[in-house]
Amino acid sequence: MAAPLRITQIWRYPVKGLGGQQLTSTDLGRDGIALDRVLGLTHDRVPLSPFGHWTTYDAFHALDARPDLGGFSARAIDSENGAKIEVRTPRGETAAVTLDSSGAIADDSALTPGTVSRWFGTSTTTARLVSSGSHLWDLADAPISIINEASVRAVGRAVGHDLDPRRFRANLYVDSDEPWSELHLLGRTITIGGVELEVLRPIERCQAISVDPTRGGRDINLPGALYAHFGHLFCGVYARVVRTGEIHDGDPIDSDRRPQPAVSLAGATVNEARSAPRPGSISRVEAPARDAASLLIEDSTGTLSQAAPGQHLRLHGTSGERPWWRNYTISGVDARGVRITVRRLEDGLASPIVHDLRASADVLVSGPYGEATADPQGPDHLVVLTAGIGITPALSIARALQDANSDRAVDFVHVDRSREAIPHWDEIERAATALPNVRHHLFLTRSDAHPGVHHEGRPTGEFLSSLITDASQTELHVCGPATFLQDVRHFAAERGIGDDAIHADPFYSPRHDVPEPREAPRAGPFRVEFARSGQVYEWDPSCGTLLDLADKRGQSLPASCRAGACGTCAVKVTGDVFYTLEPVTPAPAGQTLICCAVPTSDVVIS
Ligand code: FES
Repeated sequence: MAAPLRITQIWRYPVKGLGGQQLTSTDLGRDGIALDRVLGLTHDRVPLSPFGHWTTYDAFHALDARPDLGGFSARAIDSENGAKIEVRTPRGETAAVTLDSSGAIADDSALTPGTVSRWFGTSTTTARLVSSGSHLWDLADAPISIINEASVRAVGRAVGHDLDPRRFRANLYVDSDEPWSELHLLGRTITIGGVELEVLRPIERCQAISVDPTRGGRDINLPGALYAHFGHLFCGVYARVVRTGEIHDGDPIDSDRRPQPAVSLAGATVNEARSAPRPGSISRVEAPARDAASLLIEDSTGTLSQAAPGQHLRLHGTSGERPWWRNYTISGVDARGVRITVRRLEDGLASPIVHDLRASADVLVSGPYGEATADPQGPDHLVVLTAGIGITPALSIARALQDANSDRAVDFVHVDRSREAIPHWDEIERAATALPNVRHHLFLTRSDAHPGVHHEGRPTGEFLSSLITDASQTELHVCGPATFLQDVRHFAAERGIGDDAIHADPFYSPRHDVPEPREAPRAGPFRVEFARSGQVYEWDPSCGTLLDLADKRGQSLPASCRAGACGTCAVKVTGDVFYTLEPVTPAPAGQTLICCAVPTSDVVIS
């Protein structure tokens, strides 16, 4: 049985972006911890909100783009004349400003704008210490961040580093000996003595956690490691204060014992809501075919129920000897959740664990993912070509066609060893019976084929050609082994079916090696044009990645993890680029993850 959850450390960070101050106890008010993130270092490229209002984090210098800030810290000192916020540099210099009762800077004669600019400005960026009269948390509604030290240890074990939890800049560090148990608190109310917190959403991580918390500077690609080993970028949870009061180091934490409540990811971006690992529970397990298990998974956020036919989810394993994650195509969707169908591979890491899951088991799940979707009402003839356990998208497409009572012309072509090996083939048959323009064609490679019912062997090019009347109005949806996909592409090329009419989602396998930065192969200088603003800058290796250059020059481009994992920075780049940090997820076709890329010719960023 896991040890009870306890508070192990309490921290506040008076200046956003700088290291903080450890406390042994504190009052938790509706606004969290007093004097937490009351000041920020603005670069003046994003307007600040009026005094007293929350300002978005991208208005401030932050660790993700400024790893040098990691060596600075700040602490709050209460005095008779108002709170002082003292900043300490890595060289040990200190200076403070005094705040008035509204939180505004009342006296900066000791820490002058000139000193702030000298300590924090760069050759291309100004720095100004500002008070907003509000707390500058990353999210407006979430004053408390919580990190489970057991999760930090699990990440450390996976990457072979003894990680200092302070990298994660939490207000409350807790420990239960059970990694990722904090994610099962989502949607719950937790109690610390008389204080109550509602756990809102998981915290998505970026390169800020790669910064050494004592010396500053990046010493490991930690978002890349998180993604490689755990299949997500999240660590810790945000909470809001429901009932105020005092908390202390060592206080035990209790959580309500309801069955997993619904979790709202309101306020999260679409990308965060999709990729956040959250509690799911298995509501039913079936054995639809030899060596196959189907699991109905209820998602605490309801996000998976919006999956389009052809999309997949991801299971994040916290059981077994080492962390694991796997993508599974969704084989059916209804209002309660989604179904996955998994073939057992005896030498696999994940599938035996998934096959051992029973109804009511808790899992961590994220998604839906995938661009290769099928529209049940699409205009063109759809040919769904699947092999083996690749039948799973065909099942969700068949169900969506029936739900929409579609009259779309669809041919399902499936190849498998034997009839007993195929899970849920009856669902394809039912769709073909119920809908006027749906046909199915089953190819069996072993001996139980019945002429007229099943075909023997594999579909030939001639057979596939017989299905297609107009190549220009045909879409192919393909799922199966790589060789099967290759054969289909070869056939499509011969029949004049364009690549953009072939929908296939390549599953990338989990990788456990964590990419580390490489040198830019060419020194330039190169011309970089930002098409949206029309600005042109010169790049050389001192500029860093294309995203670093954009930051330094005040070009505001979307970004999040800065580690080639989240896809937020994907953009079309015309010209040649090189990845100095190998992305852990592939960029969408025709796009570049500019957080990891440098130019090797003149380029234009769309
Ligand atoms: S910012 Fe996440 S992939 Fe570039």
